[in-house]
This record gives sequence, structure tokens and C-alpha cells, in this order.
Amino acid sequence: AVERTLSIIKPDAVGKNVIGEILTRFEKAGLQIVAAKMLKLDDEKAGGFYAEHKERPFFGDLVGFMTSGPVVVQVLEGENAIAKNRELMGATNPKEADAGTIRADFAESIDANAVHGSDSAESAAREIDYFFNAEEICAR
Ligand code: CMP
Repeated sequence: AVERTLSIIKPDAVGKNVIGEILTRFEKAGLQIVAAKMLKLDDEKAGGFYAEHKERPFFGDLVGFMTSGPVVVQVLEGENAIAKNRELMGATNPKEADAGTIRADFAESIDANAVHGSDSAESAAREIDYFFNAEEICAR
């Protein structure tokens, strides 16, 4: 089925100047970018996004990292978009990511891991709504 998923290009990848290379991977895989914006997250916006991880020991570092520089958030649309994006990204820990995935090619560590992608239909719906109004999503 055609799905939508939320993707974030994280501060490490923005800092490496590989926004375009990462977006190209989505497009080459048949995903369409139907919304996109660059923004600088503050503690409240990043903490709310990752609220499910609030009790995890890495939460403070995660929020600190996600507010360390600009991010590019996008809505990707296409057949099987949620799983397809997760395949393109590779494992959360870049050391475990398959060769040729975004994290294998651009990420340094489990914290600075280049991209985020929604992990289920439920989180995709919540995460898209967290960053975008309906009129900011341009279906084609
Ligand atoms: P992301 O997919 O954005 O979701 C939560 C993020 O927390 C994850 O990517 C990692 O960058 C970061 N993180 C740091 N440590 C861990 C850990 N032990 N397990 C999972 N995620 C972690």
C-alpha cells in the first residue's frame, strides 16, 4: 500500500553537507518527498518528539545531539514507504548497518547516526503530525 513516513536528516549529516545525497537515495528508491523543511530543534521540540525514550539512559544525549545543529525533516510517500525507508537507513547502530545503507555510508555512532525514520504506521502518523500541518504536505 502507499504509505507516508517521517524522515529526519540529523545534525551530523547536515554538517557533513550530504543532505542532497541522502534525499537522492530516497528518490532513487521510488519514494517521493511530499513535504520538507529545515529547522533547528529546541529541547522541548526534540524531547517531545522522542518522548517514548524519556526514561532511557541515552535520552539526555539524544536531545543534546538533536539540538546541536539544524535538521531537515521530510515526509516520504510511496509503496511500503515505512519499511523501504528503514531498509535504506540500515540498522540504528551504524556498526551493524548493512553495506550501502545510509547509516553505513554516512553515520559515525549510534548517537550521530545520520537519519531517523518512523518505525511503524502508528509512529509515522504521530511523527508526521508532530512536524507538519496538512497544508504543508503536497500530495502529487
Ligand atoms: P532514532 O531512530 O532517531 O531513535 C532514537 C535514537 O536514539 C536512535 O535513532 C539513536 O540515534 C539514539 N540512541 C542512542 N543510544 C541508543 C540505544 N542504546 N538504543 C537505541 N537508540 C539509541
